[in-house]
Amino acid sequence: MSARSRDLPRRSCLSTPASSERFLAKAPTVPADMTFLDLEDSVAPLEKVAARAKAVDAIKNLDWDDRVLCVRVNAWDTKWTYGDVIEVVGGAGERLDEIMLPKVQTAAEVVALDLLLTQVEQNVGLPVGHIGIEAQIETTRGLINVDDICAASPRLEAIIFGPADFAASMEMPVLTGGVQIPEYPGDHFNYVFSRILMAGRANGLQVIDGPFLLVRDLDKLRDFAQRTRILGYDGKWALTPDQVQVLNEVYSPTQEQFDRAHAILEAYRKATEEQRQGAVMFGDEMIDEASRKMATKFVTRGLRAGLKRSEPA
Ligand code: GLV
Ligand code: MG
Repeated sequence: MSARSRDLPRRSCLSTPASSERFLAKAPTVPADMTFLDLEDSVAPLEKVAARAKAVDAIKNLDWDDRVLCVRVNAWDTKWTYGDVIEVVGGAGERLDEIMLPKVQTAAEVVALDLLLTQVEQNVGLPVGHIGIEAQIETTRGLINVDDICAASPRLEAIIFGPADFAASMEMPVLTGGVQIPEYPGDHFNYVFSRILMAGRANGLQVIDGPFLLVRDLDKLRDFAQRTRILGYDGKWALTPDQVQVLNEVYSPTQEQFDRAHAILEAYRKATEEQRQGAVMFGDEMIDEASRKMATKFVTRGLRAGLKRSEPA
């Protein structure tokens, strides 16, 4: 389902408040892999309904090239969700790739969105399954149910961690979302990052880290983003164009890693197919089938990021 965007890169996912014509007009010029127009927490309650038409207008009339395009609707515990979906998918569903559902607590919430999308698609003449879903895990209940949530619908393309709401849900004594807590000896979100990553990967989803709210400190962002990149996340939210630039770098393999991954694949292919050996030396290291799997991930990510293998020296 939603075949166009499922495997597109999401190194940087730019949040754009749909209530702001200025931000909407700027968004297509920012080279983010994915852009989402927000109807949720960056839009004031009094602007929620009017923002829907602005999102529809922007999706239809601006040039979004081939990036992943998404709208974040309001959560099911508000009065806006169904209206958001009907107006946005009904008005601009053709170019729209996905709906992002925030504060998902149970698999039933994803199923409810899936059913509503099916009806809207049928009514406006879109193929059923055209619109994918990204689900945000940002409450304690959502984390407890993350396995079921990730398996709830074939429309799911990505699972996202929302650190600001999650910190509030946990009642952590912090006032800035998504940043390191210097007093904590270690990474206070390590368990959460890993838990979401495992659930997402077990269900074939892309896994995305949420916002970093100290938007002026790009060095801190780079440092913090390394955590989820090293664990295996596909990308992270961006709140500004400068953050997009940093994240596109952080979540791409380096040229050296990309070339080495190719070389491992080549050596392994020769070993298994020509020498009939399952484990061989590659420089100082022994490689086997697991090495092939790791190298394949680097190649896939590098290709997604537009890398090309260097010519042999
Ligand atoms: C994002 O939505 C967050 O709550 O961090
Ligand atoms: Mg949130």
